[in-house]
Amino acid sequence: MMKLSNIKKAYGAGSLTVPVLRGLDLEIGDGEFVAIMGPSGSGKSTLMNIIGFLDKQTEGVYSLNGEDVKAANENKLARLRNEHIGFVFQQFFLLPRLNAQKNVETPLIYSGASKKERAERARSLLEKVGLGDRMGHLPSELSGGQKQRVAIARALINHPSVILADEPTGALDSKTGAQIMELLTELNREGKTVIIVTHEEEIAAYADRVIVLRDGLIVEDRMVTA
Ligand SMILES: Nc1ncnc2c1ncn2[C@@H]1O[C@H](COP(=O)(O)OP(=O)(O)OP(=O)(O)O)[C@@H](O)[C@H]1O
Ligand SMILES: [Mg+2]
Repeated sequence: MMKLSNIKKAYGAGSLTVPVLRGLDLEIGDGEFVAIMGPSGSGKSTLMNIIGFLDKQTEGVYSLNGEDVKAANENKLARLRNEHIGFVFQQFFLLPRLNAQKNVETPLIYSGASKKERAERARSLLEKVGLGDRMGHLPSELSGGQKQRVAIARALINHPSVILADEPTGALDSKTGAQIMELLTELNREGKTVIIVTHEEEIAAYADRVIVLRDGLIVEDRMVTA
């Protein structure tokens, strides 16, 4: 479970400091499916980056499973990230010269897993996301939805408890986006905490809870009724 208390984030220094998150409080329990919405520039990605240990808050306390994360140094943050978080982004961020299987394997390269173990895990995850027949394809040989499936398989490779997806359907047509949301829903049913950012109500409707940010604060926090 994650708890954020009075989280502030500002960019820049001195008189040029720009506040982005302005004292935000948020608790997300294990196994929740949360959609974060709000206007462009309201701080959604900034919040996701803090939740995912890609960035640190300027003020406030973020604790994960009761442990205050603020004290963690870069190594510790990297470890927390590797152990707990799988990231999915709008632009997929696949490596263009690696095939699907190798892309999924990349987070394991420094893990100590053998080549065979890496390959087996990548292949089973690609099968899970419905790409069993595309393992050898390069990203350029895959559709947008298939690329996002590869990215989701890659996000799963370290068995994260939390999937953070920043506009995972933003680059996809609505039918393909719906398929990606079905996949994220399935992962949530299997017990993963899923947190997405989206601008679209139809996408947010897949979540159980919607949080709306405005100017760096939560202005709405509601359960989605089926
Ligand atoms: N590294 C940075 N340095 C300076 N300012 C930043 C940085 N990252 C974000 N910002 C600023 O913080 C504010 C919030 O950005 P953020 O990316 O969190 O917004 P967002 O809600 O995700 O918007 P969008 O819907 O457009 O993705 C913006 O005004 C942005 O310009
Ligand atoms: Mg953003």
